[in-house]
Amino acid sequence: MTEQDQSNPQVSDYTAVGGGPAIASVVDLFYREVLADPQLVDYFADTDLARLKRHQVALVSQVMGGPVAYEGDDLAAAHAGRGITAEDFGRVVEHLVGALRAHDVPTEIIDRVVGALGATQGDIVSTH
Ligand code: HEM
Repeated sequence: MTEQDQSNPQVSDYTAVGGGPAIASVVDLFYREVLADPQLVDYFADTDLARLKRHQVALVSQVMGGPVAYEGDDLAAAHAGRGITAEDFGRVVEHLVGALRAHDVPTEIIDRVVGALGATQGDIVSTH
């Protein structure tokens, strides 16, 4: 049977939420919300969004224990010199949480994803 026992520690968060297609759908909604946010949209004016989504799907899959390795740029290098504030960072995290909730991802999994990605704040927020 394919029914999953959510308390089974053998099942990765990646598998529990529905694997690659589910995460791609979360990341799609996440960027729709980020790009609809007037405080954030300008940061992405010159960004190749297809590449960004591909890398973001890989990163989220990896932190959820999926069989995918993130092979994009180092996060500090990708965000350097962009003037990203702690407030911007908080809004991006809120959009990610919103997209995970909209896909009925359980709270404890959301907490783990936010814990892992939230820990990157020091690499992403510019200090000058
Ligand atoms: C949880 C926080 C964040 C994570 C995990 C994250 C992750 C990533 C990843 C994986 C990439 C792709 C790097 C590559 O293509 O090699 C990227 C690129 C980018 N991020 Fe973030 N990011 C975060 C927060 C932010 C914030 C707060 C902003 C600005 C408001 C931002 C703006 C950008 C921009 C503009 C790019 C594209 C760079 C380019 O055009 O090459 N990110 N981010």
